[in-house]
Amino acid sequence: MIFLTIVVAILVVCFAGVLLFGAPYLPTLKPQVAAALELAALKPGDTLLELGCGDGKVVLAAAKQGIRVVGYELNPLLAAVAWLRTRRYRHQVQIIWGDFWQKPWLEAQAIFTFLLPRYMAKLNKKVIQYPFKPVKLVSFAFTIVDKPVEAEKAGVQLYTYRQLG
Ligand SMILES: C[S@@+](CC[C@H](N)C(=O)[O-])C[C@H]1O[C@@H](n2cnc3c(N)ncnc32)[C@H](O)[C@@H]1O
Repeated sequence: MIFLTIVVAILVVCFAGVLLFGAPYLPTLKPQVAAALELAALKPGDTLLELGCGDGKVVLAAAKQGIRVVGYELNPLLAAVAWLRTRRYRHQVQIIWGDFWQKPWLEAQAIFTFLLPRYMAKLNKKVIQYPFKPVKLVSFAFTIVDKPVEAEKAGVQLYTYRQLG
């Protein structure tokens, strides 16, 4: 009984605790993963950042295409699952456990996110300040107000941030 209580408490802390910092865990579905990678249009050797990589589903799909991926994940259980799931691609994949708002964003050609509407303005500001431009932002489900969507597929939107403007 004590063991079960501890397990439940750990799960609650890991999954509910994330709500203080960002979107809860909800995996992107397969058609949207494919749409996101198609919109990002990365070449093998390019780098994708995933902000809140969950169980590593998108990271794995991108790695299979030869893309380098850096996945940030706050929930330690999900970060561990993502790390284990992508272990064959260790040379290409980095899973960073922590709050992506606080961690440095490494150089990449595209960023993928599936957050919540209330984080989109903050995300836009962060990407505007991102030093490695041009960069594509691919967002599942939620749009950035006041920024024109460049392309859209299956509920996934593409934005491009250029050096100027
Ligand atoms: C809606 S889920 C999307 C998961 C994954 N990107 C996918 O598309 O399948 C959002 C993920 O972001 C993580 N997350 C939320 N806020 C975060 C933060 N500030 N830093 C790192 N991860 C965060 C959550 O734990 C969750 O796994």
